[in-house]
Amino acid sequence: MNKIKFNSPFLTGKELNYIKDVFTENQFYGVGKYTKKCEKLISNQLGKKNILLTDSCTSSLEIAALLIKDKIKDEVIVPSYGFSSTANAFAKLNMKVVFAEIEKYSLMLDIDDVKKKINKKTKAIVVIHYGGMAARIGQLKNLCKQNQIMLIEDNAQGYGCKFDNNSLGTIGDMGCFSFHETKNIHSGLGGAIYIKSGKDFSRAKSIRERGTNRHKVIDGSVNKYSWTEIGGSFYPTEMQAAFLYAQLKNNNASVKIRKKLHKIYCSRLSKLKNQGKIFFTDNNKKILSNYHAFILIFKRKKFCDDIKKYLEKNNIDAFTGYTPLHSSKVGKKLGNKSSDLPVTENVAKKILRLPLHTNLKEQDVEKICRLINFYFKTSK
Ligand SMILES: Cc1ncc(COP(=O)(O)O)c(C=O)c1O
Repeated sequence: MNKIKFNSPFLTGKELNYIKDVFTENQFYGVGKYTKKCEKLISNQLGKKNILLTDSCTSSLEIAALLIKDKIKDEVIVPSYGFSSTANAFAKLNMKVVFAEIEKYSLMLDIDDVKKKINKKTKAIVVIHYGGMAARIGQLKNLCKQNQIMLIEDNAQGYGCKFDNNSLGTIGDMGCFSFHETKNIHSGLGGAIYIKSGKDFSRAKSIRERGTNRHKVIDGSVNKYSWTEIGGSFYPTEMQAAFLYAQLKNNNASVKIRKKLHKIYCSRLSKLKNQGKIFFTDNNKKILSNYHAFILIFKRKKFCDDIKKYLEKNNIDAFTGYTPLHSSKVGKKLGNKSSDLPVTENVAKKILRLPLHTNLKEQDVEKICRLINFYFKTSK
């Protein structure tokens, strides 16, 4: 019995052609022909200027943190139900990461809890768009405007998603994207950042380039570069950019396959949803999804654990969601307690992500759904 994998990287078949061209160009380190081509294409696809290619979403978040950091005790509000990188970027600059609750069905930032946590030291809200859906970005944007704080979108999973016809990751002040191999399109590792402010965009070019204004030597505006920002080494090689270029050009193909499989999950599991045994988000008229993930929320933790084991027994990988950041080892070291965020703590134990990738067959999805339906038919 072949294993049904949780994830399998998307390939277009064109990646090597572009990588070969990098050998012809004979510039390998980055910020060359393919980096520029990718940045232009991302700009066109997202409908916004000011895009920089990075080597990961982690790096994009670190650039964002370096751009907003002002005083040592600055605070950023981050959903606890998230990825280590989202908090790391700010914590490593000695900013205070204030964790907020998520909503129990959308699994995204709970605005009411965010409101309670805003104070004079709050510098930014970092919102995560999870699993190919959108957080309450319109409301968050208004809240940030009212309080004169920055809005940073961690859109690691949502390349190509739209809310109200605007690309996620370009609605706030900055947006961070991932092109890790687990994402819809990728370059092994990779990322991008959108920066609304022209001034910050210019600073970010230096931050990305080891803190120097070397990009100005390349564009001819200065003849010697120097240390102008606290920065890092945050851009990909030209080989990664060439690989990504092939993927970006085929973004629609990846979404199309995922959409078809996602729809099968929704239809085969709809009865269980109507019976209140499971919950999943299928569609929302305001959101254009990229179908990054299919996420089940169970009524009880036992169902979640049992089904994970039952699928494993049938050679099918399914993953539980994030471990909440506030109650993780580092979260506790930073002074948080599990009981601080009861909704997040409770729902995180009941989340299961099912396989969804471009190499998955329709009959694999049918099989997974049959097994889940059978489990509920035969268990109490
Ligand atoms: C919400 C979120 N933010 C950031 C990241 C980090 O992305 P990368 O692996 O590109 O650094 C991930 C990774 O999956 C993620 O899910």
